Amino acid sequence: MAASETDTIFNDRMLSLGLARVAEQAALASASLVGRGDEKAADQAAVNAMREQLNLLEIAGVVVIGEGERDEAPMLYIGEEVGTGNGPAVDIALDPLEGTTLTAKDMPNALTVISMGPRGSMLHAPDVYMDKLAIGPGYADGVVTLDMSPVERVNALAAAKGCKPSDVTVCILERPRHEDMIAAVRSTGAAIRLITDGDVAGVMHCAESEITGIDMYMGSGGAPEGVLAASALKCMGGQIFGKLLFRNDDERGRAAKAGITDLNRIYSRDEMVTQDVIFAATGVTGGTLLPGIRSQPGWVETTTLLMRSKTGSVRRMQYRTPV
Ligand code: FBP
Repeated sequence: MAASETDTIFNDRMLSLGLARVAEQAALASASLVGRGDEKAADQAAVNAMREQLNLLEIAGVVVIGEGERDEAPMLYIGEEVGTGNGPAVDIALDPLEGTTLTAKDMPNALTVISMGPRGSMLHAPDVYMDKLAIGPGYADGVVTLDMSPVERVNALAAAKGCKPSDVTVCILERPRHEDMIAAVRSTGAAIRLITDGDVAGVMHCAESEITGIDMYMGSGGAPEGVLAASALKCMGGQIFGKLLFRNDDERGRAAKAGITDLNRIYSRDEMVTQDVIFAATGVTGGTLLPGIRSQPGWVETTTLLMRSKTGSVRRMQYRTPV
C-alpha cells in the first residue's frame, strides 16, 4: 500500500488514544468549575480545551454533531474543520460538556464526550429533540420499539429478560413533558431512575445494567445527544431507536439544512452511526459509569471510557498529571 493511502485510512486503533486525550483535557479544563454555579464558564472551558486538542490530531475532521449552527456557536460548530488536515477524512460528534448544569451544581454523571468515524458515518442530526428508546445488549432485535406504548415496552422487556415488570428499572429525564410516560411506567410496577440531565449517560447506563441497575432508557432529549449515545452503544452493544421531533418551521428548516427529508423516520443505532467508530468519555462529576475528576495537592486524576466498535473493546483509563 502506498504511504499516502495508509495516511488516509481510518486507523481507529491508532487514533483512539488521541481521542481519549481530547476527552481528558476537556474534563481537566472544566475541573475548577465543578460546583461553581456557572454552566456557561464550565462549558466554555471544556469547548476551548477540546478544540485545542482536536486540532493536534492528524486527521481531516469535520464536526457533524457539535456546539450548534455556525452563527450561534463560534467554536466546534457544525461543519467546522478540525485536526491538522493531514490524515483520514473523519466525522466527529462531540459534546465537550454533557451536563453543564450537573457540572455547575456538582451533581452525578457529567461527562465530556467525543466520537469519531470515517467521513459520512454519522447522522447529521439537527439541534431539535429526539424521541429515544434504548436497551442494553443480549436482547433480540426489536424486542422493544418506539411504536410501542411505555407499558408495552416494560412488559416486552420483562418477558425477554424473564422477570416481572416490577423487576425492570427504566431511566427517564425528569421533565413535565414526560409526566404521562412516567405515570404509565409506574402503573406497571417498574422502578424509574429519574435524572435531571445527561441522557447520553442515561442511555449508556443500559449497556452495563449489571453495574448501573438500569434496563431501559426512554423519553425525549437532544437529537445530537442521540447520535452520541448511538455511537456509545455501537461500541458497548445494545439497541437505540430515535425519532426526530419538530415543534415549528424553524426546526423543520434545520432538518432540511441537514439533508433530512423524511421527518417521520425512526432511526436505529446503525442508521444513526453507519460505520465503525471510536468513542471516548471522561467523567467530570462522579457517577455510576465513571468516577469524576479527583484533585489532590500536587496532582489531578481523570478516568476515561475508551471504546472501539470494531472490536467491542471497552477500556477504563486512569490519567494522573501533576499540577
Ligand atoms: P447540556 O449539557 O447542553 O446542558 O444538555 C444536557 C441535557 O440534559 C442532555 O443530556 C439532554 O439531551 C438535553 O439536555 C435535554 O434537553 P432539555 O433540558 O431541554 O429537556
